Amino acid sequence: MGRPVAALLVLCLIYLTTCSLSTRTAAFGAHDLRRGLERAMRGRLLADAAEGVVVVPIHWSNFTYLANYTIGTPPQAASGIIDLAGELVWTQCAPCRGSHCFKQEIPLFDPATSSTFRAEPCGTTLCESVPTRNCSSNVCIYEAFTNAGDTGGIVATDTLAVGTAAANLAFGCVVASDIDTMGGPSGFVGLGRTPWSLVTQTNVTAFSYCLAPHDTGKKSTLFLGDSAKLAGGKSNPTPLVNTSASPDDGLDHYYKVHLEGIKAGDAPIATPPSGRTVLLDTFSPVSFLVDGTYQALKKAVMSKISAPPTATRPPSFDLCFPKGGVSGAPDLVFTFQGSAALTVPPSNYLLDVGDGTVCLAIWSSARLNSTAADGLNILGSLQQENIHFLFNLEKETLSFESADCGALS
Ligand SMILES: *[C@@H]1O[C@H](CO)[C@@H](O)[C@H](O)[C@H]1NC(C)=O
Ligand SMILES: *[C@@H]1O[C@H](CO)[C@@H](O)[C@H](O)[C@H]1NC(C)=O
Ligand SMILES: *[C@@H]1O[C@H](CO)[C@@H](O)[C@H](O)[C@H]1NC(C)=O
Ligand SMILES: *[C@@H]1O[C@H](CO)[C@@H](O)[C@H](O)[C@H]1NC(C)=O
Ligand SMILES: *[C@@H]1O[C@H](CO)[C@@H](O)[C@H](O)[C@H]1NC(C)=O
Ligand SMILES: *[C@@H]1O[C@H](CO)[C@@H](O)[C@H](O)[C@H]1NC(C)=O
Repeated sequence: MGRPVAALLVLCLIYLTTCSLSTRTAAFGAHDLRRGLERAMRGRLLADAAEGVVVVPIHWSNFTYLANYTIGTPPQAASGIIDLAGELVWTQCAPCRGSHCFKQEIPLFDPATSSTFRAEPCGTTLCESVPTRNCSSNVCIYEAFTNAGDTGGIVATDTLAVGTAAANLAFGCVVASDIDTMGGPSGFVGLGRTPWSLVTQTNVTAFSYCLAPHDTGKKSTLFLGDSAKLAGGKSNPTPLVNTSASPDDGLDHYYKVHLEGIKAGDAPIATPPSGRTVLLDTFSPVSFLVDGTYQALKKAVMSKISAPPTATRPPSFDLCFPKGGVSGAPDLVFTFQGSAALTVPPSNYLLDVGDGTVCLAIWSSARLNSTAADGLNILGSLQQENIHFLFNLEKETLSFESADCGALS
């Protein structure tokens, strides 16, 4: 079943108006978390409950993957977009100030009715680890740019029940933002390389996730700690790399790998040496490739597909085909440092947009209209479907293998 074009407009809306890298990196460059405090923070909050085995069910909704979880005692519902590069876990809180509050599907979290809620005082290690903090009546307040927009609120701790884990965690209790809507969820669940992401706070040395194909309705899963394992164990790991355009480009929240090459079927795609860094992302559904690589890939894909591209396309898409005419579409193979080969089948890059049309869900990085995006590739969530990704934070490696994500648990 195809996605109605209206849903794609939501994608364009979410993606193009609020999520361009230019906004994000400019913001993060200016407000980035301090380095070096991560160690001080590690394990401070959370060791109590997780016991190394955390399984978090996630589901697809409105072009993002979400986790439902609860905060507080008694528990109140929250839902967050799973953001692999996200800085923190945050949710909107009452009282959110009037128009500064975006519409969400569930009631606002109300700290006043949680007996375990604690606003973080100023001057603590946690508070000091937030670069854009300020102090108001001895409460630590903060501002953070997220993939959806600018947010501000109280740095707080409370009991969060995320999947099979329940622990006292730090989160952002957001009372103001410039976000109009996120189409349902109340915030984000950030997994990024920062002191107060879910991954860092749970003090795990590994995590993995496996995204079920978005159109199957099957559940996806995030595994934290000992539950994060690949079945085969025979895939080559690739090192997580640490290349940045500049020390403060804000991209150090991301998990990054080094691209050695791309093939479309057996045809190699030229990749400029300066454009080999790949950011892994679960917020963007589409991938972005540096323009030179993108143009070469587009050409190679067109040459293998016998049907001519459609004359009209939904907004945002650059290349579409009649659904019935793409049988010759090649697998794309991305090879990362260490000969780790990631196979992206046509079903992961030709998105069914309805009306008998499929479109290339890989775009040019030039679309991000940002100098910070020069030379960057981003691997989006559609291209990651049915591939299990394992991040080993001790060895600083990424491994992956094809999987039936909906059948893992
Ligand atoms: C956090 O993890 C590290 C590495 O496994 C371990 O040495 C440390 O004791 C953990 N800290 C806590 C508070 O659990
Ligand atoms: C997540 O929570 C929302 C709002 O309560 C609910 O409609 C939805 O069914 C839940 N989804 C899952 C997979 O639990
Ligand atoms: C902190 O708050 C004070 C008072 O509102 C304000 O003057 C100051 O600019 C703020 N500092 C930062 C870094 O935002
Ligand atoms: C998707 O987003 C739209 C627009 O914000 C919203 O009206 C709709 O309820 C959302 N759908 C789901 C399944 O959350
Ligand atoms: C990245 O590299 C810089 C400079 O070599 C280093 O100071 C920093 O700790 C590295 N960061 C990570 C996450 O490895
Ligand atoms: C691209 O960036 C330039 C300079 O910041 C800006 O003037 C222009 O409007 C942007 N174009 C789009 C399509 O966002």
